[in-house]
Amino acid sequence: MTPAHRIAALRAAAARISDVPLRELVSADADRVRDFALRVGPIHASFARQRLDRAALDALFGLAGECDFQGRLQALFSGEHVNGTEDRPALHTALRGALVDAAAARAAHAQAREGRDAMRGVIEGLRALGVRDVVSVGIGGSDLGPRLAVDALAPVSGGEFRVHFLSNVDGHAAQRVLAGLDPARTAALLISKSFGTQETLLNGAILRDWLGDDARLFAITSNEQRAAGYGVPAERILPMWDWVGGRYSMWSTVGLPIALAIGMDGFEALLAGAAEMDAHVLHEPPRSNLAAWHALVAVWNRNALGLASHAVLPYDERLRLLPNYLQQLVMESLGKSVRRDGSPVGVDTVPVWWGGPGTDTQHSFFQALHQGTLRVPCDFIGVAQADAPYAGNHQALLSNLLAQGEAFANGQDSEDPHRAYPGGRPGTMLLLDALTPHSLGALVSMYEHSVYLQSVVWDINAFDQFGVELGKQIANRLLPVVRGEAEADDPVTRALVVELRRA
Ligand code: F6P
Repeated sequence: MTPAHRIAALRAAAARISDVPLRELVSADADRVRDFALRVGPIHASFARQRLDRAALDALFGLAGECDFQGRLQALFSGEHVNGTEDRPALHTALRGALVDAAAARAAHAQAREGRDAMRGVIEGLRALGVRDVVSVGIGGSDLGPRLAVDALAPVSGGEFRVHFLSNVDGHAAQRVLAGLDPARTAALLISKSFGTQETLLNGAILRDWLGDDARLFAITSNEQRAAGYGVPAERILPMWDWVGGRYSMWSTVGLPIALAIGMDGFEALLAGAAEMDAHVLHEPPRSNLAAWHALVAVWNRNALGLASHAVLPYDERLRLLPNYLQQLVMESLGKSVRRDGSPVGVDTVPVWWGGPGTDTQHSFFQALHQGTLRVPCDFIGVAQADAPYAGNHQALLSNLLAQGEAFANGQDSEDPHRAYPGGRPGTMLLLDALTPHSLGALVSMYEHSVYLQSVVWDINAFDQFGVELGKQIANRLLPVVRGEAEADDPVTRALVVELRRA
């Protein structure tokens, strides 16, 4: 059955309830609040405010069965070549646990443990050298995960190492990161799976020169030869592996910045949280499986309701980078329009994922979410336990979180159209008991599995990203043009280059 056939049944279910106000869907079903919620470890998730009723849910879980969610998860965890276009597995789950007995998963798990031993060695070495600051140079999957985890979890008062991130090829970024750092007490980690990424190689060269010698220069890569050719001593190259996708790699040696910021025990706790979610997702049938719910709701919003964007709204300053992280995870994974066999998908795939932290965003784009013509489903993320010293602020934060979920869903009538709130905006609430390495690991793992299960419904490969290649190739061709050594072929580019040269 094609994705288009599968989705047709959902559309019929959606048409039946499309005119029913969301608040009525909630009030009409006494057990809905209980039955549309799940708890997994440190996460409580409520889907009660999604535009769904029980018949729609039945259709969605029927879809999960047709798509063989459980079989496809088993294939992922076992190391089958789920990345067909690149003929390799995606074994990020083996980085954090040993849930299946397949040979590929076992071997990957053993390599991951060795990688963690190497990370411990690096940390001890940096300690012995008296290093204070560490600059992590990488981009995309070699940046966003560690950046998120460090921003969320590093002690406010500063830990043993201060970790900085450098991703953008713009020289201002390097200038800003290096300002105030002492080369003699700084180490650089060049993180690149391919060790062929322009931004990382250019920024890495800045760091290599700035450090003055290679004693504190490290690489994390699956291309050790390239890193050695670049000038990183072999004993300071940590392995990364072909069987981990870049955007799924924060659990690997790529997570070294995290371990530096929160300690190796903290890093292990992050992995343990992800592993707890992995076990849940692998073993629970779809109806009691959080990632399956999340994925099916995403498909419902995209394909049955036709909603073209999805907002992530963490009501916790420490999670302010979660939307950035998820943009790559979700949109690089699901931004495809052909099926695994190369035929057109025939239905819409990933919506635009975006967002920002509450409460700041309430004062920027929330107006459009409340009264604009776009309907944007939201993931609200809240943290029950306050760790900051200002208890009153945390209460205000939580009341805003709850208020916005209510306002989006229920709206409010008014005779004055300017002051009416239509409501009917669907939202999922994800509440963490506390923000810890463990709960962050569980949350991110949940999103990873949701992404994979969405790809299963759409029959697309979630693990390649050929879409980003064309721009890189053209940029390489245009570098001599920008340097003034060649002319551009494209007439618009040619005219723009004239303008750039004029300045
Ligand atoms: O943006 C494309 C991409 O290939 C991402 O998938 C990847 O995370 C990023 O570039 C960085 O790649 P690398 O780790 O090889 O430098």
